[in-house]
Amino acid sequence: SETSEIRKGLTGVVVDYTAISRVNPETNSLLYRGYPVPELAAHCSFEQVAYLLWHGELPTASELSDFQAAERARRALAPAVKAVIDLIPLTAHPMDVVRTAVSLIGASDPDAENSSRASNLDASLNLLAQLPAIVAYDQRRRRGQDLIPPRDDLDYSENFLYMAFGEVPAPAVVDAFRVSMVLYAEHSFNASTFTARVITSTLSDLYSAVTGAIGALKGPLHGGANEAVMHIFEEIGEAERAEEWLETALTEKRKIMGFGHRVYKSGDSRVPTMKASLDTLIEHYDRHDLLALYDTLETAMTERKRILPNLDYPSGPAYHLMGFDTAAFTPLFVASRITGWTAHIMEQLESNALIRPLSAYNGEDERHLTASSPA
Ligand code: CMC
Repeated sequence: SETSEIRKGLTGVVVDYTAISRVNPETNSLLYRGYPVPELAAHCSFEQVAYLLWHGELPTASELSDFQAAERARRALAPAVKAVIDLIPLTAHPMDVVRTAVSLIGASDPDAENSSRASNLDASLNLLAQLPAIVAYDQRRRRGQDLIPPRDDLDYSENFLYMAFGEVPAPAVVDAFRVSMVLYAEHSFNASTFTARVITSTLSDLYSAVTGAIGALKGPLHGGANEAVMHIFEEIGEAERAEEWLETALTEKRKIMGFGHRVYKSGDSRVPTMKASLDTLIEHYDRHDLLALYDTLETAMTERKRILPNLDYPSGPAYHLMGFDTAAFTPLFVASRITGWTAHIMEQLESNALIRPLSAYNGEDERHLTASSPA
């Protein structure tokens, strides 16, 4: 029957090909354009990874210097974008600010309806270059601080942290940030990327697809989990309380944020790399109390449910230690995933088919209005 084929949440359904990344749950591995992500995280800047995702190959030295120059030249927040951000109430979630800013950038781009690859690459670079200013400025205005203009003598990660905090932190901190950006960049047909591909499949524009993807990423079952992890840590308070807290939470049938994954069932391939960066931050900031809480909750969850942490589990506390506000964590994910989303938008357009699945009807049988119907 038609219903025997329904897979709630499209679980296990292969929707299309992609040459951008390969997730292999059997081997717990993730490749971007064929390269193992831990290798990229060890050796590449975020700029190199963005170029790789968009072009399929790592940049040569001269391609990289052109790319870096273009990215550095576009970092400043447009006055209209700043003005619109200033109009948004501080009660709004920072993801709503990012969504609105991206929508405005699209509405202001005279080339927005041009879906050629060259135009879409240009738009993608614009968003990549401007998202740090959006995220950093929104956090600053919430703290009553002024905008910090970008510096073009700094790389992407250094400049991002500089615009957020007014100084370039220690190399270990910059490096942990860079690693998080590389790890968040791309992950095949996750909910937000699929959303971007659905929107693109109607031949809508790139900015509309990205705006929709931001909406999908906001939810706590997806990107919102990194923020939710920090709320859990705050709720628990200290390692000694973690086991008891977990028992109660599981009894109440709560989902423990930062654990579990639709695709990986024996561990998220990105966690060991991010955990190593978190360990460096724990040393740097001397926050072994936070590590104890992290380890205790992870051990308890593994023993109790056999459910392992996902990338959001180490990245949440890492962003906290770097000094970001908890509500800014998912916007940081946007700043990175813009690379994967736009790579998928361009790939979708290369061999587009409208994405339009079917549903099985389970409502009322056909019936007719009678004299006693309310109508
Ligand atoms: N806490 C408690 N129980 C869980 C969790 C969790 N985090 N994850 C899965 N389970 C249980 C779930 O309750 C279910 O149990 P039962 O069979 O008894 O009903 C079983 O494990 C299977 O879970 P599921 O929800 O059917 O599996 P799924 O593939 O739909 O879930 C998930 C994937 C990510 C939605 C889920 O693990 C979850 O809600 N995790 C918490 C949110 C989170 O951390 N999201 C980030 C995902 S990864 C990176 C990203 O996108 O940012």
